[in-house]
Amino acid sequence: MPQPRAAVILAAGQGTRMKSAVPKVLHTVGGRPMLAWALALADAVGAERKVVVAAPGADEVRAAATALGATVAVQDKPLGTGHAVNAARDALAGFAGDVAVICADTPLIRPETLTRALEAGAEGVGVLGFEPEEPGAYGRLVLDKDGDLERIVEAKDAAPAELALRLCNAGVMTAPAALLFELLAKVGDDNAKGEYYLTDVVALARQAGTRARVARAPADEVLGVNTKAELARAEAAFQDRARAAALAAGVTLIAPESVYFSHDTELGPDATVEPHVVFGPGVTIESGARVRAFSHLEGATVRGGAEVGPFARLRPGADIGAGAKVGNFVEIKNATLGAGAKAGHLSYLGDAVIGAKANIGAGTITCNYDGVAKHKTVIGPGAFIGSDTALVAPVTVGAGAYTGSGSVITSDVPDDALAVARGRQKTIPGWAAKFRAKKGNKDG
Ligand code: UD1
Ligand code: CA
Repeated sequence: MPQPRAAVILAAGQGTRMKSAVPKVLHTVGGRPMLAWALALADAVGAERKVVVAAPGADEVRAAATALGATVAVQDKPLGTGHAVNAARDALAGFAGDVAVICADTPLIRPETLTRALEAGAEGVGVLGFEPEEPGAYGRLVLDKDGDLERIVEAKDAAPAELALRLCNAGVMTAPAALLFELLAKVGDDNAKGEYYLTDVVALARQAGTRARVARAPADEVLGVNTKAELARAEAAFQDRARAAALAAGVTLIAPESVYFSHDTELGPDATVEPHVVFGPGVTIESGARVRAFSHLEGATVRGGAEVGPFARLRPGADIGAGAKVGNFVEIKNATLGAGAKAGHLSYLGDAVIGAKANIGAGTITCNYDGVAKHKTVIGPGAFIGSDTALVAPVTVGAGAYTGSGSVITSDVPDDALAVARGRQKTIPGWAAKFRAKKGNKDG
């Protein structure tokens, strides 16, 4: 029977190599902070307790961790990864299941990979291993003749023969809670960095006659992020993964390498995404919808058969109904476009409800903000909004009603009415010729 699970997420490192005022673990990959990736991973493997180890005074990290349902444990001084895990001890008091230690700077581990690491450590110690192209500063995994893990050597402490080993520590360790804390109590700091290494737990386990095993991870899941260059590499790996997943799910991507996803982008089968589209967080594109080139979407839903773009911008709360059309240079925010409605060109539609089959003329603007508060515009089904209409909210245009081009609509328009609100045209025959004669324009 599987044991209950807990996760300890290490996030107390200084992250100085990021050269950023933002804490390292709050930098995003696929639009989601790395800390949130780690906590989502813990949730995905069924962790019933999540403890984030943070540095003293790391208020933003604490707030983010708490908001995501984790307990925060403070590591008073950055004395190493072993010392950091030990800081989670009190938070896990009374917990008798398996613990997975993960680093908050390793955002792309898949749940099935962590599950294999937990299985490897179900009765002893489990470590996630991988073979990087460049083993560099990673800890090296020393195996015994049976393929079990004998010890982990940090690069700075390694002999040349050990440095030549290809199999490295991805930074994940698993063990039953009691065993983990019992072994951690024996870890010392007599090494090149003068730190308490979590990795020493392995040799200590073996000395106590406990088994240690390696679960292997694909290298693209365990990229550690310590610099902005590595953050960009993790982002690229995430994008590759998201593109492959979309294609596998039956989405048509004409130039996949030019489409940018967020961690939660949802695309139905037979949705089509043209080149150079950016999906911010919170986007759903239903089956059969088309997102045309150079569009930017976030917090938006595009329903079946709808078409958006080219050059469209959908902001949070945009809901584009089935078969509706949003054309070039149209910005939509917190607005519902009913089924079959059209906004083809150069418009801003904010805080609005637009009925089915309404036609929004080029240059239409909802004037939703009076400098203090936002107000709502309601446009009924089948209404025809003339080009260059300014709708001064709060305002309602009834079903089937028309507004004249260039109107500034400030009061409600009843169903099936026409509202025109602009200066009446005055035409003066011959005026231009007389004007030119007076100015002495011989060419006129
Ligand atoms: C660690 C491993 C190394 C492994 C690598 C994988 C140790 C001793 N070494 O090295 O074997 O190959 O990860 O990426 O474990 N942290 C704290 N408190 C501390 C120190 C670190 O919370 O006192 C946190 C950091 O925020 C980070 C994680 O622990 O999330 C790993 O620390 P880092 O200094 O990046 O370890 P590495 O040198 O990369
Ligand atoms: Ca690291």
